[in-house]
Amino acid sequence: MWLSRILIAGFMVYGLGLGAAKAACDPASETLALSDGAGLLCWQRDGDRVAFRMEFDGRRWLALGLGEAMAGADVAIAGPGLAPADYHLTGREAQDVRRDAIDDLIEPAFTAEGERSVLTFKKPLQPGDASDAVIDPQAEIALIWAVGPQLKPGESAILEFHEEHGILRIHLAGGGTADTGVPWLALHGWLMVLGWGLLLPAGIVVSRFFKVTPGQDFPRELANRFWWNWHRLLQYSGVAVVIIASGLPLMQPGWQWSGGLHGSLGGLVIALAVFQVINAQLRGTRGGPEDEFGRPNPPEAIAGDHYEMTVRRRVFEAVHIVTGYLALLGAGLTVILGLWLLGWPTGLTVCAGLCLLLFVALFVALQSRGAPVGSYNAIWGYDSIHPGNRHLAAPAERDG
Ligand code: HEM
Ligand code: HEM
Ligand code: HEM
Repeated sequence: MWLSRILIAGFMVYGLGLGAAKAACDPASETLALSDGAGLLCWQRDGDRVAFRMEFDGRRWLALGLGEAMAGADVAIAGPGLAPADYHLTGREAQDVRRDAIDDLIEPAFTAEGERSVLTFKKPLQPGDASDAVIDPQAEIALIWAVGPQLKPGESAILEFHEEHGILRIHLAGGGTADTGVPWLALHGWLMVLGWGLLLPAGIVVSRFFKVTPGQDFPRELANRFWWNWHRLLQYSGVAVVIIASGLPLMQPGWQWSGGLHGSLGGLVIALAVFQVINAQLRGTRGGPEDEFGRPNPPEAIAGDHYEMTVRRRVFEAVHIVTGYLALLGAGLTVILGLWLLGWPTGLTVCAGLCLLLFVALFVALQSRGAPVGSYNAIWGYDSIHPGNRHLAAPAERDG
């Protein structure tokens, strides 16, 4: 008895819900679900204009317009406290969302009632404003949409980074597809955090603090190759990952050079990473009584840039070390700017924060154990018979 009443009540509520949704869009219009059903788009040709209706769950700003990407799009935007108006977008920052000189939206309206926001407007096929798009009724039309974060009752919308966005392709005669697209920028961010947050800092820690490894009987046991193998492995793979990552924003539909601080600083730190690989190849020869595998060197191979600590080797060390840390610092700032551009995505922001904490904690903990052994002493020890030790401070001075 109770069960049947609950079922009947349930069906009535469901029926009312369906009825409301149906009543919302003109039954003759074409429809497409947005964001797995959280939103709905309806469109219908009306003589020399097209009527659009966009709905989305929650009180929030809604935007819908013509274009393949933000840059160059012609959109209508409205929200609680934000009257519907015609805009054109010139890039991906808040200042790139600009009001049109001539507003040619017809009968624009916005409501946010019953936890559902609705934007309706009509657009002429032939616009009266140079920044508006011409609609070809015979061709496929690319549309973009975006919605702001959910607002509390009484709160007004502020045009900031959207909570969700999408690209659609529709035909006025009927039919359309939602182009969810590959999240190239999110992938770009994850790979950058992997490279600059994990691989490259790990390679630096290894190079600075593990020239002598725990348990090694130093200075009786010398020339431990652990740091050298890991520094190269981590830095080569880190540089490869960040180079691949820097190409991903270009895959974004409608990509254009934004000229923003993030991209400019990002370009610079990628160039520094490549420069590190190049200057490392120019570090000169190794030299020494034995080669890197402990086999005796022929007499003519004993003199070498590292063994003698020639000017070339000293310049390499100074440049490589300073540039390496500068690149890491610049990358940290670039990551922060990137996270800000994407509205601080939770998972990635937490991972980037953890990487930073881990690096700082490791660095401070290892540094507090005293000055690390340098590459020369790690290979040849402190004996003054080795010519390079003339250029290096005595261990007592350094450790003191
Ligand atoms: C108000 C300030 C806005 C900011 C700061 C902003 C920022 C951004 C950023 C950083 C991206 C790239 C990130 C990603 O793909 O996840 C993006 C993409 C996108 N935005 Fe916006 N947006 C704004 C307004 C709008 C508006 C009004 C629309 C209108 C429909 C819109 C539609 C899109 C679309 C379709 C994309 C994906 C295509 C593309 O990358 O250009 N955005 N937005
Ligand atoms: C992939 C090729 C690379 C090679 C062959 C290489 C080689 C070296 C060598 C020989 C040293 C030891 C210098 C010394 O103490 O005598 C070193 C240290 C260092 N490398 Fe690299 N490196 C490479 C890539 C990179 C990259 C891409 C970065 C950073 C973005 C980097 C950052 C550093 C830093 C910061 C140090 C000094 C760590 C310290 O002692 O505090 N290296 N590298
Ligand atoms: C050090 C690490 C990073 C470097 C070197 C870097 C580099 C770049 C470069 C060269 C571009 C293309 C230039 C442009 O479109 O203006 C770009 C774009 C972009 N990056 Fe990064 N990036 C890094 C980290 C991140 C992170 C962690 C995120 C966020 C998750 C991010 C988000 C973005 C976004 C949203 C764009 C598009 C910007 C726009 O079109 O205005 N980046 N980045």
